[in-house]
Amino acid sequence: MPLLPKSTCDCSLSSSAVEQSDFFNGVGHLTDSPIPAYAIDTDHVITQWNRACAILTGMPASTMLGTRNQWQPFYDRQRPVLADLVVDGGLCGPIQHYYPGKVICSLQMPGTFVGEDFFPRMIHGGKWIQFSAGPMYDRSGKVVGAIAMLQDMSAQKHAEEALQKGRADLEQLVIERTAELMRRNVELTLANEQLTSLQQQLVQAEKLSSIGLLAAGVAHEINNPIGYIFSNFGTLGQYLSQLMEMLDAFEKAEPLISQAVVRHDLGALRERIELDYLKADIPVLMRESLEGIVRVRQIVQDLKDFSRVDNAMQWQLVDLHPGIHSTLNIVNNEVRYKADVILVFGVLPDVECLPSQINQVVMNLIINAVQAMGAVRGTITIRTGCTSQTAWIEVADDGCGISAENTARIFDPFYTTKPIGTGTGLGLSMSYGIVSKHHGRIDVDSTVGVGTTFRITLPLRQPL
Ligand SMILES: Nc1ncnc2c1ncn2[C@@H]1O[C@H](COP(=O)(O)OP(=O)(O)OP(=O)(O)O)[C@@H](O)[C@H]1O
Ligand SMILES: [Mg+2]
Repeated sequence: MPLLPKSTCDCSLSSSAVEQSDFFNGVGHLTDSPIPAYAIDTDHVITQWNRACAILTGMPASTMLGTRNQWQPFYDRQRPVLADLVVDGGLCGPIQHYYPGKVICSLQMPGTFVGEDFFPRMIHGGKWIQFSAGPMYDRSGKVVGAIAMLQDMSAQKHAEEALQKGRADLEQLVIERTAELMRRNVELTLANEQLTSLQQQLVQAEKLSSIGLLAAGVAHEINNPIGYIFSNFGTLGQYLSQLMEMLDAFEKAEPLISQAVVRHDLGALRERIELDYLKADIPVLMRESLEGIVRVRQIVQDLKDFSRVDNAMQWQLVDLHPGIHSTLNIVNNEVRYKADVILVFGVLPDVECLPSQINQVVMNLIINAVQAMGAVRGTITIRTGCTSQTAWIEVADDGCGISAENTARIFDPFYTTKPIGTGTGLGLSMSYGIVSKHHGRIDVDSTVGVGTTFRITLPLRQPL
């Protein structure tokens, strides 16, 4: 920081201004003055060196008076000081040369110059000195010398420096505190985002757990009747085959019936009820019904799995690819008229999971992909891959796509855009629940009119 404001030195002072500058004329008071001061004559010889000046400079009057050593307390080699320059006429050029940017003309006292500088050579490790010098006149107004006044500014400067340092320290502190606050703010924002996402997950989990409860209730109610239907059906099958045996025996005995009328009636009855067809159809109906019952039992089991009431579910280390193949087999009927399936399988390590549930997720995704197809036959691409920590399965279709606003809702239970009877809107919310239970994630990327890709990412190992 400049010590004094830079000012152009106006050295073209009028003679009347010089005449007015009689401040320094009281030379007689110099000795007693508390202000450090000295005077020189036109030969640059020191004529006065007061006590205050001796104390400030550490140079007694006895060593200074009568010499031209006024530079000595301030500089390490001889040079003109401000008083010398004033005696020489106070010209702008020399003043600028010896005190570049450090001295200005006094506004209060024309002809007088004021400056401030640090003098490292001075006693006590150097001093900040404010100095001024002006001409001395005799009664006729002739310049007879110059007088210089000094003021020790060191204490004030040190105080200023301390203040400046204090301010800088404070600024630094403010910067540090602000940075700390901003860091905390970032942390808080992050924590808040995590909380919001956790809350969303909780809401999702809440929705799913109510579905789970419903499913558990339904599964429980259906489980018993389906149990006795299944066991009765077995018995019924047995009875029927025994009846068939009996019927065969009767049929064999039929020609032996002697009464023609009875024989004729039996024959007519056999034709009316199409006994041969009946005999052929009954086992088919039985088999199909059994399949139906088995499927219902499986659905009930799935419902129980979904609702997690069945604790017997075993986490297993499995290759996901066979599961995808068997799932494709199961849904083959749905897929084959609507789309071609392309498999792009990567090399997968075994994944710790509940395989039947992962299959169910894949099945939901494949069926959704099929249902997204329009009149034109489409393509479903199933890809797999892995990273060091995760394995992923992608089901991509070139179907109708999902709009951005609907994407936010597709995992909601009962959200469906399909006609009544086609979709319940549970497929994706169940899938979401299953994948969450596996500590994995399910992502969707979709463009309306282009297609949709679902990706399930699963950790290779479940956290302990
Ligand atoms: N591959 C896809 N392409 C286009 N839309 C999809 C796709 N997958 C899901 N959707 C949209 O998300 C909705 C919800 O899907 P979700 O599987 O949960 O229910 P759903 O298929 O309608 O019924 P459900 O699966 O219970 O039979 C669907 O109705 C559909 O609008
Ligand atoms: Mg679905």
